[in-house]
Amino acid sequence: MEIKSAEFHKSSAKANQCPEPKKPEYAFIGRSNVGKSSLINMLCDKKALAKTSSTPGKTQLVNHFDINEEWFLVDLPGYGYAKVSKTERKAFQGLIDGYLRHRANLMCLFVLIDIRHKPQKVDLDFMEKIGNWGIPFVIVFTKADKLRDEQIQESVHDYQAALLETWEETPPYFISSATKSLGKDEILTFIEEVNQSWEK
Ligand code: GTP
Ligand code: MG
Repeated sequence: MEIKSAEFHKSSAKANQCPEPKKPEYAFIGRSNVGKSSLINMLCDKKALAKTSSTPGKTQLVNHFDINEEWFLVDLPGYGYAKVSKTERKAFQGLIDGYLRHRANLMCLFVLIDIRHKPQKVDLDFMEKIGNWGIPFVIVFTKADKLRDEQIQESVHDYQAALLETWEETPPYFISSATKSLGKDEILTFIEEVNQSWEK
């Protein structure tokens, strides 16, 4: 799919402030600093569409981006970041959970995982939770430019083994790099296919 236009639409501090659910949408979630905002910019070919930072905790609101005036990409705050206060973490969690539980037009959630790390409890617990809530999701491994091919395969293999301890089957996954535009065509083709199941 070709992205003809990608525009910032709205930031929301509460789930009920999000735009009307009139278009299909796809949200990006994962731990702070995993590369959610960078991946959105890479997919849209726009360097500064979503704000990125090497300091974790950059995205603090639910940010909607209007793509081709047909669907939304949503940049979410990160979860599980240890260095913010308990009160702040609770507020982020409330915002994320509120969003996830009430978004009728959420077609698929992209759960981002840094390919360099061993499977982490916080991510596995998160997937368990959204699985229980019935939210469709796929995994996107990020920062693949940091590893060699065989290390990438090993990481994916380890991750699937960890998932199979609780899941009967593993979700679809993509391997990406925002710096090398890796995974772009695959992810956009996937979205294009899922968009076809949207009933107007
Ligand atoms: P929060 O909004 O804080 O939760 O973070 P985020 O998940 O949106 O991460 P962000 O996109 O801001 O990226 C965090 C850091 O990782 C930045 O320094 C990015 O440049 C870097 N980064 C993101 N994606 C990649 C990638 O694919 N490869 C490499 N090498 N660095 C990346
Ligand atoms: Mg961000």
